[in-house]
Amino acid sequence: MATDRTLRAQSVTHAAGGEWTRERWEAAAPLAPVPEGREALIRIRDVNKSFGQRRILRGVTLDVYRGETLVILGGSGSGKTTLIKHLMGFLRADAGTIHVAAPPTASPAQAGSVATGSDSGSRLAVGEIDLGTAGPDQVAVYRRRLGVVFQGAALLNSLTVLENVGLPLVEVDRRPANEVYERVVEALRRVYLPAQEILHLKPASLSGGMRKRVGIARAIIQKPEIILYDEPTTGLDPVTVNGVNELTLDLQKQLGVTSIVITHDLDAAFRIADRIAMLYLGRIIAVGNRESIRQDANPVLRQMLTGSTQGPLTEAYLQGHAPVGHAPAGQPSGVAAAAGGGN
Ligand SMILES: Nc1ncnc2c1ncn2[C@@H]1O[C@H](COP(=O)(O)OP(=O)(O)OP(=O)(O)O)[C@@H](O)[C@H]1O
Ligand SMILES: [Mg+2]
Repeated sequence: MATDRTLRAQSVTHAAGGEWTRERWEAAAPLAPVPEGREALIRIRDVNKSFGQRRILRGVTLDVYRGETLVILGGSGSGKTTLIKHLMGFLRADAGTIHVAAPPTASPAQAGSVATGSDSGSRLAVGEIDLGTAGPDQVAVYRRRLGVVFQGAALLNSLTVLENVGLPLVEVDRRPANEVYERVVEALRRVYLPAQEILHLKPASLSGGMRKRVGIARAIIQKPEIILYDEPTTGLDPVTVNGVNELTLDLQKQLGVTSIVITHDLDAAFRIADRIAMLYLGRIIAVGNRESIRQDANPVLRQMLTGSTQGPLTEAYLQGHAPVGHAPAGQPSGVAAAAGGGN
């Protein structure tokens, strides 16, 4: 297990970029001022999370702008799902804060509104939530704003497709059965599933790709304001991958949805992202629009985008600097196209 001291001392030499110390990586991704006309919907500041002795998140700092699609890249085991779980309110940070601004139509009754929300006594705007200190009721109200596409489809095996996808409408929104039926059929159609054939099947009777799409249908059925996608297209055929990408773009355009997408699919990342962030050794070491990420000389990014087996991503693992003991991600699909023009 690498300590902060050893991480600080760590330096990696890479042909393309000279010596990149930890400080240089961090300096390469300062928290940019929020551009004019944009609003930071989610403000993640210095979030740390350990499981036992293993420090997974080591100071994640990132803004997510309202209405943008932000793609987060990172090696396997780098903590992407862990970060998403913090954004869902499933995990609490050991240190650091996550604030989510109010929904556009917030009234004091909405979003678990609080006047004094945090332990530090700082005041929150009406409708804003501090995920580090929010109570269960506030988190429940906040979750209503979220759609989540889990890395595994996370369907309930004992329920049919209709019941799985319609669950949020029945349990949370208490919608009548005929409306639930219609909206489930519509949601399944949006992910190219033959609704009539599968509505009454249990998840075990579906293929892996179909289960994944049912999970996406469930995530969008409540027309959420924010969608968290954890590898939404892994294991899907190319046509469905394009369909899911287009769906993400449609939801953004038509409903102004804010999306955070974790993916290893670089083609998809460069097609749908407004901005791309790179998680490495527990921190965001680069963030920017597609062009700036393509041009970025940071060797971690260069290795990620080219899929090379030589570079800091692999060296960190080999030297035991990686926060966890997983093997690094294999070469992602679409690498050449995504990296094109970036070297
Ligand atoms: N609840 C937990 N208890 C203990 N360790 C955990 C827990 N959740 C995650 N971890 C560990 O944290 C590390 C990061 O896991 P995480 O699932 O966030 O990685 P990831 O970046 O999503 O990886 P992948 O790309 O493979 O999905 C892993 O080593 C994992 O074993
Ligand atoms: Mg994961």
